[in-house]
Amino acid sequence: MNVGDERTVSLWASVNVAPDAVPLTRDEQVDVVVVGSGIAGLSVAYELALAGQRVAVIDRGSIGSGMTARTTAHLTSICDDYFSELIALRGRQLARLFYESQSAAIDHIQAVQETEAIACDFRRLPGFLFPSSAGQDGTLERELDAARQIGIAVERTDGLPFEGFSTTPALRYAGQATFHPLKYLQGLAAGIQRRGGALYSDTVVEKVEETSGGVRMTTASGFVVTGIWAVVATNSPINDRVAIHTKQAPYRTYAMSFEIRAGIIADGLYWDTEDPYHYVRLQPGGGERHFLVVGGEDHKTGAVDDAEERFANLTAWSRRLIPDLGAETHRWSGQVMETTDYVGFIGRNPGNERVFVVTGDSGEGMTHGVVAALLIRDVIVNGSSSWQELYEPSRKTTRAIGDYLRENATAIRNFAEYIAPGELDSVEKLGPGEGAIVREGLTKIAAFRDEDGTLYKRSASCTHIGCHVHWNSLERCWDCPCHGSHFAVDGTALNGPAVFPLAGLV
Ligand SMILES: Cc1cc2nc3c(=O)[nH]c(=O)nc-3n(C[C@H](O)[C@H](O)[C@H](O)COP(=O)(O)OP(=O)(O)OC[C@H]3O[C@@H](n4cnc5c(N)ncnc54)[C@H](O)[C@@H]3O)c2cc1C
Ligand code: FES
Repeated sequence: MNVGDERTVSLWASVNVAPDAVPLTRDEQVDVVVVGSGIAGLSVAYELALAGQRVAVIDRGSIGSGMTARTTAHLTSICDDYFSELIALRGRQLARLFYESQSAAIDHIQAVQETEAIACDFRRLPGFLFPSSAGQDGTLERELDAARQIGIAVERTDGLPFEGFSTTPALRYAGQATFHPLKYLQGLAAGIQRRGGALYSDTVVEKVEETSGGVRMTTASGFVVTGIWAVVATNSPINDRVAIHTKQAPYRTYAMSFEIRAGIIADGLYWDTEDPYHYVRLQPGGGERHFLVVGGEDHKTGAVDDAEERFANLTAWSRRLIPDLGAETHRWSGQVMETTDYVGFIGRNPGNERVFVVTGDSGEGMTHGVVAALLIRDVIVNGSSSWQELYEPSRKTTRAIGDYLRENATAIRNFAEYIAPGELDSVEKLGPGEGAIVREGLTKIAAFRDEDGTLYKRSASCTHIGCHVHWNSLERCWDCPCHGSHFAVDGTALNGPAVFPLAGLV
């Protein structure tokens, strides 16, 4: 365990996805090497194992402990950045294909949990889009029109099961779903192992290379896994320095769970149209226990360090809508990668033939991960997929050029921080449990003092391409605003694209 791994835990975290997974202790040769064991990596590995490929999955932590352990698991076929926007950026045909592919992902999850007999609380539910504060901005009308343009089944309805919302207009989308994400991953992991696939935990992949006719992954422990194909499913790609990272941006997002009595709200997925937005659903807790899971209050990673305020907003929003809500049980945060055209990047890594990448979840990473499994399986097994153009990682998103410039402005602004003063002028001013950027001579230090008084000093320069990290006091880690790397207080890389730890200081 890294110092700093006392990060927040989610409602799901008590489920151990693959207790028997062990670190890699020898060189391996397989057909497909997958790095990353979240919904994307395990779904890809499961499909390929089913298709008769020898697969190995490698993860730097325990299996399924990445962002999938922090999700709220709404399984939706709609675009959460709105179909009216997606049509404007990619046209009607691709917007329709987006809907079809995300719907196919939900159908597939339903089929897999049935075939593998995974008890993961999967339910088909309607999804409701609604304005949660006074005054409408026309979003419902625009989305109704967009849905009709591309043939999505949606109906207008009035009234939601929330206090004061008995006549509020909403859009009702049929055929959405939800489940317990880690129970589902547990079933996938078992399915992979039953078909001869190997799961390696606590093994950091440092390098992904394409060789003549194959691929090679080198791990920090020195062992090498070779294969015919590689899939990089690390949420934020560790094998790409720039190409994809300039087309997506990391956002920190927050979630909470509360106890709730059965019958207070109807089982469903509820999404408001606010900015930042909120979304809510129910989760059975076993027996008479039920939870309400609420999420939202996103902001660009590293832009602010005000988690308590975000949780206060989520609590106030939830209790305003559901005054009978019970006690809070969990609060946690995580990160999503927002692409400039709202569609993930799934397919061949730019410049590679045999290396695939899955990223750009856009807050819909659960279905994106399953789309990736179907798309990559079809390309490897059958040579092509009808979804390749839509999700093509090397596509140019020219019409979203404003967003492209805005996302890259983060990096430009960030480099200017190197010449600004530190947040503290001396590490002596750091209290117990506090982290801050401190200037020492010409160097910026990411400094943290633990409750015992031990001081951790690391370079503040992110090991991806050198942006300046920011302190996250909720998760007690260093977040990089440029492309989403996270580091523990001892410098260990916790989230890609960075692979290597923050440099130690002499
Ligand atoms: C609070 C929150 C709410 C969300 N709500 C929803 C929702 O309602 N619906 C939805 O569809 N999506 C939602 N999302 C998004 C969704 O959860 C994610 O997009 C999805 O789980 C990402 O899955 P993944 O497999 O790509 O990544 P991960 O689950 O993060 O898996 C990547 C894995 O790669 C490993 N890794 C990284 N680097 C290396 C390395 N160098 N070597 C070896 N292993 C490495 C990591 O340890 C990790 O386990 C939410 C996300 C958050 C944080
Ligand atoms: S994540 Fe790219 S520079 Fe830090």
